[in-house]
Amino acid sequence: MATRRSVLSGSLALAACAGAPAAPAAARPLKDMLPCPAGVCGMSGQFAEAGWRDLVVREFSQFTPEWEMKMEAILRPDGSLDFSRADVCADFAARHGLRLHGHALIWYSQGADQFAGLDKAAFGEAYDRYVLAVTSRYRGKVVSWDVVNEAVAEDGDGLRSHHWSQALGEIDHIRRAFDVAHTADPQAVLFLNDYNLENLPRKGATFLRLVETLLKAGTPVHGIGTQSHLDVEIAEGQIAGFFREAAEFGLQIHVSELDASLKSDRRLDLRPDGQRRAQQAARVTELTEAFMALPAAQRFAFTVWGARDPDSWLNRDARAGSGDEPLLFDASGAPTSMHAAVVGALPA
Ligand code: G3I
Repeated sequence: MATRRSVLSGSLALAACAGAPAAPAAARPLKDMLPCPAGVCGMSGQFAEAGWRDLVVREFSQFTPEWEMKMEAILRPDGSLDFSRADVCADFAARHGLRLHGHALIWYSQGADQFAGLDKAAFGEAYDRYVLAVTSRYRGKVVSWDVVNEAVAEDGDGLRSHHWSQALGEIDHIRRAFDVAHTADPQAVLFLNDYNLENLPRKGATFLRLVETLLKAGTPVHGIGTQSHLDVEIAEGQIAGFFREAAEFGLQIHVSELDASLKSDRRLDLRPDGQRRAQQAARVTELTEAFMALPAAQRFAFTVWGARDPDSWLNRDARAGSGDEPLLFDASGAPTSMHAAVVGALPA
């Protein structure tokens, strides 16, 4: 398949031969180059910043609230619901014509305090009530939900154990959330979302076995969300291998939180800058090509976890510090080399 990169490199080669300066690639908005929605996450605190807003509205066609539609923002300690932050995000998306992806109804890392002390019956009622209330409120506004986020164990050996699974069952709590969400909004596309599915083949395999289990039980799982917080040091082929396996289910596939850190959190990072950037370009190219190799009907959206490098959660974590360049646009809103890797992997 001729890709934009092969055509571009061809024309650059010809131009070089002719002695003409290489013409820069035409800077078209990402949403006009991708054959599916171009997604981005963000938070209400960014909406008033013109630089962020103008870039998002120009380049993207889908929005994921980075935290305002999570339990941490909605469920108060007394069990009441505060939709004010989530409503601001829904209004922003509607005002700017952005498709809205809801993230995330049930997550192992949130809700323990609010559900503490409830007996099994009350716990189940509160669980159903929460999923029903949130999904119903945004019916017709949110087109899709990450219904359960990060169900698989960190090392890929089975599923996580947490307050949801301990109270309602390892698989049953997942099925229950999908069933209630589907009842609340039968039109919503419902995703199981997780990370390191490409980075850690064992985790990807466990995730896909969970999808199979849920589908065999009749659970309304409509989509696979692969967060794709890429480890750029992984071997070539891991990403493509996961996408080939995932595609077999015929479900929608959402690259839901793409970023590709130039830093290593495993050890002292002695890689020369050029090597890190080459690794980033290679893995992001592989991911984009693997996504584009999916049948068109399965390409739900291609979402990056932040608009500009400084917006990334990776530059907000005190441990990691700042200065990482994991996204498609730099601090000024100019396309990065990672943007070139994505665009270069798209069909000409
Ligand atoms: O800005 C508000 C502040 O106004 C408020 O007073 C305070 C109250 O706690 O919260 C502040 O918001 C924080 C928000 O990030 C913005 O910085 C939240 O506390 C904090 O929990 C939130 O962290 C988010 C994290 O998920 C937990 O929700 C990160 O932004 C977000 O990037 C991260 O995203 C996750 C995905 O959901 C799942 N996959 C992994 C990914 C990265 O960890």
